[in-house]
Amino acid sequence: MKVLVTAASRHGSTAEIAEAIGDELKSRGFEVTVAPPEDVGALSEFEAVVLGSAVYMGHWLAPATGLAHRIGAELAGKPVWLFSSGPVGDPSSKFAQQMDVDTVDLQAVQKATGAREHKRFSGKLDRHNLQGLQRVGLALFRGLQGDFRDWKAVRDWAASIADQLAEATAA
Ligand SMILES: Cc1cc2nc3c(=O)[nH]c(=O)nc-3n(C[C@H](O)[C@H](O)[C@H](O)COP(=O)(O)O)c2cc1C
Repeated sequence: MKVLVTAASRHGSTAEIAEAIGDELKSRGFEVTVAPPEDVGALSEFEAVVLGSAVYMGHWLAPATGLAHRIGAELAGKPVWLFSSGPVGDPSSKFAQQMDVDTVDLQAVQKATGAREHKRFSGKLDRHNLQGLQRVGLALFRGLQGDFRDWKAVRDWAASIADQLAEATAA
C-alpha cells in the first residue's frame, strides 16, 4: 500500500516529524513517499495520506491549507490523517498553554480532506530563526526556545496509523 506523508515546514522541524512518520510506516512495510506539499502532484498512486503543518500565529502554513483544498476532491474514499506541529515551551508555561489549541484552519481542512483524525505535536523553536519583530520579542520567546518534539508520541501515532491501515487491508 502506498502512503503519502506531506507537511509544510518553515524551519525544518515539522519536515523532520513527517520523515519520522514516514520511517515508522516504512518499518511496518508500507511504501511511503515523504514530500513537501508544494511537490505533491496527482494522488492517484496513493491509497492513504498524512498531511501536516507547522503552526504560526494560530494558522497552518499556506502550502498545507492550499494542498488540502487542492486535493480535497481526490481524497474522497482515501483515509487521511492530519497533524500540527506547535506549541513550543514548557507545557506548564502560560505561553505554551495559550498555543495549545487547534489552529483556526483546522475545521476547514478537516472538511476539505474528510480526515479521520488530527494530532497536535510539540515543536521546536530556534531563536536564530526569528526575524524582525520576532527578534524584538526575544525575551518573550526565550522560554519557548528549544526542541520540544516528542519522538515517541510521533512514532506511536504513526504506528496507530499503520495498525488502522493494516486492519483495513485485512478486512
Ligand atoms: C513567530 C512564531 C509564531 C508561532 N506561533 C505558534 C502558534 O500560534 N501556535 C503554536 O502551537 N506554535 C506556534 N509557534 C511554534 C512553531 O509552530 C514551532 O516552532 C514549530 O515547530 C515550527 O515548525 P517548523 O520548524 O517546521 O517551521 C510559533 C513560532 C514562531 C517563531
